[in-house]
Amino acid sequence: MTVPGIETEALRPHAEDAFAGELKALAAADDRPRPERWRLSPWAVATYLLGGTLPDGTVITPKYVGPRRTVEVAVATLATDRALLLLGVPGTAKTWVSEHLAAAVSGDSTLLVQGTAGTPEEAMRYGWNYARLLAEGPSRAALVPSPVMRAMAAGTTVRVEELTRIPADVQDTLITALSEKTLPIPELGEEVQAVRGFNLIATANDRDRGVNELSSALRRRFNTVVLPLPATAEAEVDIVARRVDQIGRSLGLPAVPDGAAEIRRVVTVFRELRDGVTADGRTKLKSPSGTLSTAEAISVVTGGLALAAHFGDGVLRAGDMAAGIQGAVIRDPAADRLVWQEYLEAVVRERDGWKDFYRACREAAA
Ligand SMILES: Nc1ncnc2c1ncn2[C@@H]1O[C@H](COP(=O)(O)OP(=O)(O)O)[C@@H](O)[C@H]1O
Ligand SMILES: [Mg+2]
Repeated sequence: MTVPGIETEALRPHAEDAFAGELKALAAADDRPRPERWRLSPWAVATYLLGGTLPDGTVITPKYVGPRRTVEVAVATLATDRALLLLGVPGTAKTWVSEHLAAAVSGDSTLLVQGTAGTPEEAMRYGWNYARLLAEGPSRAALVPSPVMRAMAAGTTVRVEELTRIPADVQDTLITALSEKTLPIPELGEEVQAVRGFNLIATANDRDRGVNELSSALRRRFNTVVLPLPATAEAEVDIVARRVDQIGRSLGLPAVPDGAAEIRRVVTVFRELRDGVTADGRTKLKSPSGTLSTAEAISVVTGGLALAAHFGDGVLRAGDMAAGIQGAVIRDPAADRLVWQEYLEAVVRERDGWKDFYRACREAAA
């Protein structure tokens, strides 16, 4: 068996490398029909994401914890001629799911366009190697294909991160690729036609909506799948605990036992502040400006573990978490500090069993 996350020496291995063993076992056990150029059947892709046990006993770890139907719709979309848009607030695993989908479907999650306000058209279509272009004129050899073009030619999955941050006119260069399944190269009088197996996964943040709203022409090419925040505190604690364990092992952090209570506390604090009300529904709270996502909870706990492992007594304690939690909550120094102080005095201070945390937060703030 392979240890997730440490099959290679890479600091942050690609999903297809980190989980190569699981993908291989799934492919071997998978006797369902596969769409052309897919490494696995849609059923096996969903199992890879959601986890399960194969007939030979191989355990597939869950990558995504969330509604099964959401994953099934996402995978089924990729088997059609529509592209997939993963939508959600920050930290809902959009990037994570898109990487694992590409790894499971195409065995390659590296064809990636990072969307920013400065993403150029070349990142969606193609560019030129200017030395060759000047020396030889336009030719196939002088052309530098974009990840989109490479995926079209190879019949694989390409990912576009943060699609709505990309300027609208650059976004629109995707329309021809997604509707006509071709990328014209007017300079050469040629085109690159997508072969079967090509598809595109884009991610976008709910909060960015309106920044560069997708044009309706482009939106029609996508099936949108919304990734929700974890429905319950239990589900969120489970996600955080799993990921922290994987990350801790890939960073080679010494094992810190009994982190469960502190993980539950971060998740409780983040959920209460996010929801604007305490878990028992009794006290209304102000929400800070940050997102306090599951992803942030994961990094706060990881930071706490590093403190506990290297500078503490090997047990994760409130003192290892306080600074990280405050750092995540207080993004805007003025407004968020007030929100945090109110929460500290009205909720943390009064809560049974939270005295250590209250004291640690007061110390960290001083
Ligand atoms: N429902 C979930 N299941 C599994 N992991 C999750 C879930 N929600 C968040 N995560 C974790 O949060 C981290 C960051 O998610 P990311 O994909 O970067 O978020 P986004 O792209 O939506 O902002 C990942 O490490 C992922 O494992
Ligand atoms: Mg992301």
